[in-house]
Amino acid sequence: MYSKIKIVVGIIALTVFAACSQSEGNFAGWEYAPDMYYAKGPEAYRILQKDTGNTFKSMWTPVTNTIARGKLEYVFPYNNDTIGYRLAKKEVKCLESVPPTLINIQEGKRLFDINCIVCHGKLGRGDGTIVKDDKYPPPPAYQSVQIKTLEDGGKYFSITYGKNNMGAYGPNLSPEERWKVIHYVNYLSHIEDSTATLLDLKEEGYLDFYKK
Ligand code: HEC
Repeated sequence: MYSKIKIVVGIIALTVFAACSQSEGNFAGWEYAPDMYYAKGPEAYRILQKDTGNTFKSMWTPVTNTIARGKLEYVFPYNNDTIGYRLAKKEVKCLESVPPTLINIQEGKRLFDINCIVCHGKLGRGDGTIVKDDKYPPPPAYQSVQIKTLEDGGKYFSITYGKNNMGAYGPNLSPEERWKVIHYVNYLSHIEDSTATLLDLKEEGYLDFYKK
């Protein structure tokens, strides 16, 4: 009888002792049934310990040049240098899925008004509010020959990577959005009347310049 009690007390004492084991860092102390606490499958961002003692994350960085499924159009195979710029001007063409329709230009205007208007100004004349406040050198007007004759591929390149004082919009705007903005930039390039203040994109003939 006594020996049974001894065994039970012994087991209880051992359990209590085990429960009091010191935890440290990633070590949570002795565990009775670790299988129940830890999923066998890798969990995102959990730090694991390899036998070697090296810690590693289960959320691996994708292999360089990995492309997410369905995101092929995000690939921009041009380096951010003068050669890349020159090639992009020649080779990069608008996505077929984003033609310069009224809806796309209107969406381009919406995106322009959010992202670009502060510097480029309402009509793209390089007179945005922060330029007027003398906080920023004026960007070239979209109506200037320099921008008017710049190939769409060059615009796409500069919007993607940024250029000198202009930040990169590749991380903020999807390829579709970048092309919509470019359609609107092209639209503004053809508004020669410097006294124009209001744009009505529903006006007849707004796409005429694309037909030329
Ligand atoms: C912080 C101010 C600023 C903002 C915001 C800005 N730009 Fe610019 N942008 C500039 C400046 C400055 C230049 C002239 C860069 C140069 O040639 O040195 C420029 C140049 C450009 C060019 C000509 C690029 C080239 O290759 O010559 C285009 C096109 C353009 N911007 C479009 C945009 C669009 C579209 C947006 C919004 C998505 C935008 N910019 C937002 C300041 C800005």
